[in-house]
Amino acid sequence: MKSRFITFEGIDGAGKSSQIAAAVALIQSRGIPVVQTREPGGTPLGEKLRELLLHEPMHLETEALLMFAARREHLAARIQPALAAGAWVVSDRFTDATYAYQVGGRGLDEKRFAALEKWVHPHLQPDLTLIFDLDPQVAARRLAGAGQAPDRFESEQADFFERVRAAYLRRAAADPARIKVIDAAQTPDEIRKELEQIIVEICFQ
Ligand code: TMP
Repeated sequence: MKSRFITFEGIDGAGKSSQIAAAVALIQSRGIPVVQTREPGGTPLGEKLRELLLHEPMHLETEALLMFAARREHLAARIQPALAAGAWVVSDRFTDATYAYQVGGRGLDEKRFAALEKWVHPHLQPDLTLIFDLDPQVAARRLAGAGQAPDRFESEQADFFERVRAAYLRRAAADPARIKVIDAAQTPDEIRKELEQIIVEICFQ
């Protein structure tokens, strides 16, 4: 079976992380090797950049460029070797997050990102992207309930996350074959069933 690249997206607090384990377990249950990773991060250098991106004050364009720098390393050191070896890769976020957060949320010019995307991964797109869609007010309550100190993104206000959410939904509407939207207000069990169904339908053929 051809290797697959699956990404999970959504605003902070949408609950995607707890579902990634279920997706990985489903793939492994078919005897398929799978690499679970995340962005920003996924490599020793990428994790250092993640620490800076989440906690260090910086210019918004620095933030955008560091996201792509971390991604370049991630592709070279982790994603591409895994796919070439026949493994599947499941990543908690990828380039759709940059369009949602840096373009939608921060308001940076989309055209610049098309150029960066073409530079960093001209021939690779996820085979499947699952967007966990949730009302930012509900997501904010979930984050507050988790009781952890908010990072640079989590500290943003509701209108920022409204813009991020809208940008994700626009991307889903523009590429419905690749990007599937999951209603993250459902129970964890309902979400897991829906996402397993989508993975089976799109990836296990
Ligand atoms: P996480 O909390 O889902 O692991 O993601 C870390 C944060 O980084 C999250 O708030 C979204 C943000 N982010 C961007 O702003 N742009 C990107 O390209 C990526 C990958 C993440």
